[in-house]
Amino acid sequence: MPSIDAERAEHGPAKMTARDVSVYYGDKQAIDTVSIDVFSEYVTAFIGPSGCGKSTFLRSLNRMNDTIPSARVTGKIALDGEDIYDSGMDVVQLRARVGMVFQKPNPFPKSIYENIAYGPRIHGLADSKADLDVIVEKSLLRAGLWNEVKDRLTDTGTALSGGQQQRLCIARAIAVEPEVILMDEPCSALDPIATAKIEELIDDLRGNYAIVIVTHSMQQAARVSQRTAFFHLGHLVEYGLTSDVFTNPAEERTKDYITGRYG
Ligand SMILES: Nc1ncnc2c1ncn2[C@@H]1O[C@H](COP(=O)(O)OP(=O)(O)O)[C@@H](O)[C@H]1O
Ligand SMILES: [Mg+2]
Repeated sequence: MPSIDAERAEHGPAKMTARDVSVYYGDKQAIDTVSIDVFSEYVTAFIGPSGCGKSTFLRSLNRMNDTIPSARVTGKIALDGEDIYDSGMDVVQLRARVGMVFQKPNPFPKSIYENIAYGPRIHGLADSKADLDVIVEKSLLRAGLWNEVKDRLTDTGTALSGGQQQRLCIARAIAVEPEVILMDEPCSALDPIATAKIEELIDDLRGNYAIVIVTHSMQQAARVSQRTAFFHLGHLVEYGLTSDVFTNPAEERTKDYITGRYG
């Protein structure tokens, strides 16, 4: 695994850093003292057996766990060195900077146009309707959806196919110019063709944002990511170059998982 110091020397500081992060649901600990650096240059995959805490940890990166009353996060998570759990942090602003795409596509029950325009409007990114039109077009283009929807922008977002809805959700995240995009099993509700399109899109977006993707598919992790973090029972067991994690894992538990001994 490349040392964090080597990564820093190559790329400058990490976009997000987590230090000794634990997450509890009531008395139950779901994440145990996880430390990780996430870099803007890469797609980072979180893998591991179901229930090991991937979603829980992902949600702690943009304070989505705040919406779960029993959840409690300890340790430190920083975005560009700034503590995201600081009382002065504007959570709405944070979730624009660290956007999220969920397992089940969840477009607003509004027009395709409005799905994209809503965020930029509330965050004051557009001064006029013309500005907003540009943002909508640009975001849909980047998400690979523009050609499919440009003649039906007033149709409701929920009328699109599952794969289109997921690209709409990615376009919606992009529209507010995020720095990090978190994706929690974004393809698990999609067919193989729609999945391939999302994977291509993730590759196109790579480098523009730090992208973190939770996936239960090791093949997907191998295809789309450059860094892989393997979680097991709430622990981060191993984190490194995706190629190393899959071909030459340092930890026995990682080896057991990738060779299908459990999971
Ligand atoms: N809202 C919640 N309330 C209580 N326990 C939860 C909640 N969400 C997840 N958990 C528990 O936390 C652990 C980690 O879950 P999760 O982060 O969803 O794992 P993964 O995404 O790796 O499948 C599991 O034991 C799960 O049952
Ligand atoms: Mg999950």
